[in-house]
Amino acid sequence: MNAPELPHRFPPVELAAAGTVALETVLTTDAPVPDSTASPTVLFVDQSGQLGGAELSLLPLAARCAARSEVLLLSDGPFRARLEALGVRVRVTSNAKVAAIKREALRLNWLRAVPGILAQVRTIATQAKQFDVLFLNTQKALVLGALGKPLHRRPVIWHVRDIMSRDHFGQVQLRIVRWLVRHAVDLVVANSRASADALTALTGLAADAVPVVHNGIDASAFAQTDASDIHALRRRLGLPEDAWLAGLFGRLAPWKGQHIAIEALAKLPGAHLVLVGAALFGEDAYAQQLHRQAEELGVADRVHFAGFRDDMPAWMKAMDVILHTSTEPEPFGRVIIEGMAAGRPVVAAAAGGVLEIVRHRENGWLVQPGDVAGLVNAIETLRDTPALAQQLAEQAYADVQLHFSLDSYLQQMSRTIARMAP
Ligand code: UDP
Ligand code: GLC
Repeated sequence: MNAPELPHRFPPVELAAAGTVALETVLTTDAPVPDSTASPTVLFVDQSGQLGGAELSLLPLAARCAARSEVLLLSDGPFRARLEALGVRVRVTSNAKVAAIKREALRLNWLRAVPGILAQVRTIATQAKQFDVLFLNTQKALVLGALGKPLHRRPVIWHVRDIMSRDHFGQVQLRIVRWLVRHAVDLVVANSRASADALTALTGLAADAVPVVHNGIDASAFAQTDASDIHALRRRLGLPEDAWLAGLFGRLAPWKGQHIAIEALAKLPGAHLVLVGAALFGEDAYAQQLHRQAEELGVADRVHFAGFRDDMPAWMKAMDVILHTSTEPEPFGRVIIEGMAAGRPVVAAAAGGVLEIVRHRENGWLVQPGDVAGLVNAIETLRDTPALAQQLAEQAYADVQLHFSLDSYLQQMSRTIARMAP
């Protein structure tokens, strides 16, 4: 069956300040977004040059602030060119030993990285002094940027995009984050209520001290991709034209659960699985394991590894259903709102920020994380009941415009930054 093409008949929604976000945050004000001359100057710091969700979410914000801000990357990569193409000034300061510190191995190699850590703390502090506000977009940026607070003395905003609990992180890392948040961060903004709650539980901050700003996306970029001829679209992307396609989007990493989707596929004769994404942060062994798993289950001819792609609207619209299979609670999950904007039914793992986006059988389908039988059932149901699939997709399309618009996200973030200006 071909992907049901959504008629774009939903009226454009007036973007209100009262989205999901505004209802639960301190950002409920109707105050106008400050104009660029009144806006503070901002140094954004991000640890990665790769195109992960944290970076793709910072991209439009940095572009909006481009006239009075700069992005400092602690690692080079394609993110730099994407920022520069939007007119953002970018600097890169990388240190191999600091970059090698991974959350799994924090205890082992951080001591060897001390000189590099101190150098980066100083570099960030020196840069930060030239701006009004320091905005730390990732966890390593938090550590290096906040440690330098006595040197730069600038207001520090941390955008927490992780669920800071023992399920995800080691005790040492949690202690470091707790100390820094209490002593060197002026404001934490969370990408979901789930991320905010985990952080307030960790730090003892009051629940309303951590505003939530959900990611927003430009739904019009999805509307512009024509999928009325699904065969032509799939041909262009090198995908099987007549197969029933389930798409899973995101970097290849064990907790993103691509192995769960392959396991489910083995129980779904005739269906194909398209894995769009690459091992961005060194998870090559997992990527190889996925290839082996597909061979061993005899489904290698029905699993398509597409690698990293830039054109999400086209790839998503080429699918019949979009899967999200994270085995740990997803802090937010941009791929879910993108799937909704693509007008495709989304099946998602019911944990973390996902529960703030998807309502079961209303605008999508929820499955317990790691539940292969539940995933098979969801996919079979949506494949066998196209009317239901269409109904969920239509509701999702309406919801994403109302609650997860790029405009609303940018307004909320700009207000937050403006409030921290000296
Ligand atoms: N993405 C992409 N190309 C790919 C796979 C993923 O551009 O091949 C993008 C995807 O559109 C989404 C982001 O990567 O915007 C992933 O963000 P998400 O919040 O879902 O997960 P994260 O990787 O940040 O945990
Ligand atoms: C992080 C989270 C992801 C979230 C993204 C954007 O990378 O893993 O769930 O969507 O940040 O905030």
